[in-house]
Amino acid sequence: MNDITEPASLPNESALKAAGSEHLFIHASSYRALADDSSKRILVEGHGAVVKDIEGKEYIDGLAGLWLVNAGHGRTEIADAYARQAGTLAYASSTQATTIPAIELATRLAELAPGDQGTAFFCSGGSEAVESAIKIARQYHYFNGEPKRSKIIGRRGSYHGATYGAMSVSGTRPMSEPYHSPFMHGVHHASPPYCYRCDFRQTYPACDLLCADQIEQIVNYENPKTIAAVIAEPISASGGIAVPPDDYWPRLREICDRHGILLITDEVINGFGRTGRMFASEHWDLVGDIMTIAKGLCSGYAPIGAVMCRPHVVEAFEGDNKLSHLLTYGGHAAACAAALVNLEILEREGLIANSEHMGARLKEGLEGLSDHPTVGDVRGLGLLTGLELVKDKETKEKFAEDGEELKTLGEGLAQRGLLTRVGGVLPLSPPLCITADQVDNVVSIIDDSLTEMETAHGLA
Ligand SMILES: Cc1ncc(COP(=O)(O)O)c(C=O)c1O
Repeated sequence: MNDITEPASLPNESALKAAGSEHLFIHASSYRALADDSSKRILVEGHGAVVKDIEGKEYIDGLAGLWLVNAGHGRTEIADAYARQAGTLAYASSTQATTIPAIELATRLAELAPGDQGTAFFCSGGSEAVESAIKIARQYHYFNGEPKRSKIIGRRGSYHGATYGAMSVSGTRPMSEPYHSPFMHGVHHASPPYCYRCDFRQTYPACDLLCADQIEQIVNYENPKTIAAVIAEPISASGGIAVPPDDYWPRLREICDRHGILLITDEVINGFGRTGRMFASEHWDLVGDIMTIAKGLCSGYAPIGAVMCRPHVVEAFEGDNKLSHLLTYGGHAAACAAALVNLEILEREGLIANSEHMGARLKEGLEGLSDHPTVGDVRGLGLLTGLELVKDKETKEKFAEDGEELKTLGEGLAQRGLLTRVGGVLPLSPPLCITADQVDNVVSIIDDSLTEMETAHGLA
């Protein structure tokens, strides 16, 4: 499938599996998942859009890891930059110092970010970026003489992270509710711009964007002077990769401005070329007051995230108005050096344009599968694409997330060499260096796997 070379030598596979099953608690999994769950594999190598497991089987990485390996796998250039910086000075504490890579990365991000988002606060990942954004937003209002502005509005279906604040503002929190409530208080959730399953049973444009206006209704009901921020992904990935209508973002931006509310654009997945632009905000000339970024910032080569702030936000923190928030790993020098090279690769190899073109090819290929009885909708922008699967196209009945149909589909995809997460929406978000042949292969693997699933479960 590609030019992955044989690794020199690997530890004994069954011994590794036994040790991993016993000692490794895999995220979002049950204990001993490595032994009990056949969908968990040990990956040993990757190159471009392809990864290889310990048994030597190769897969197209349909989700770029977890929506982040934008530059692709096996980039020794990024690894070298990390190693060079780590060998020189890996770390400096923000209580006393910063480093050259941190300053250079912040400066580069200021050039790339939408509008005048010119100042970066670094952290280790997306959840920390969201926690930091919430705290920055609340403290901003405090310093501006509005300490009551503490509430946050999120949207149903959106995911903003796993830590407490990020989980609380996430619209996926009903799944965590049995275990992790009570959540952070003062959080409200509005309907998303998810036209295929509109909460208001309306159709765009006749709906006149009721979903955006609902946010203003919540604001007015709660008292606008108590709302700190609205947080939203320009295109919600967890919310089903629903691309909003073109006038959604201008409307929401205007609502926030009118009420003095900060808009936090969460580009943790959307950013760094994923949607065919450096940031998805660019599709709508959107400039959040605060933007959260992570994932594609370093393509998974080092854990790093950031919060980008516009001048009016950081200017609230001048003089004695210090930010009351500190993370040990924020601005990690080696991670910043790696991220700088990652950004250079995205630019030098034209990977953002490739995302646009390969994304269009992928979407067209997926639209060609619309005759399948289970393909309800095909959506996306750039290489953030998704296919909504339904049991019945008329009623839009959903598949059970843990049902046999999706299990069959997942096994079929993996067996044919495509890794992705299988759910009601099949997300396709591969490395941005994916080739046209690989895109066509993804489509044909999905085609065959859908046919197999439909036949096996009497849906053909
Ligand atoms: C939009 C968004 N924000 C935040 C996060 C949290 O990022 P992390 O898992 O790096 O903490 C995610 C994770 O998928 C995300 O999709």
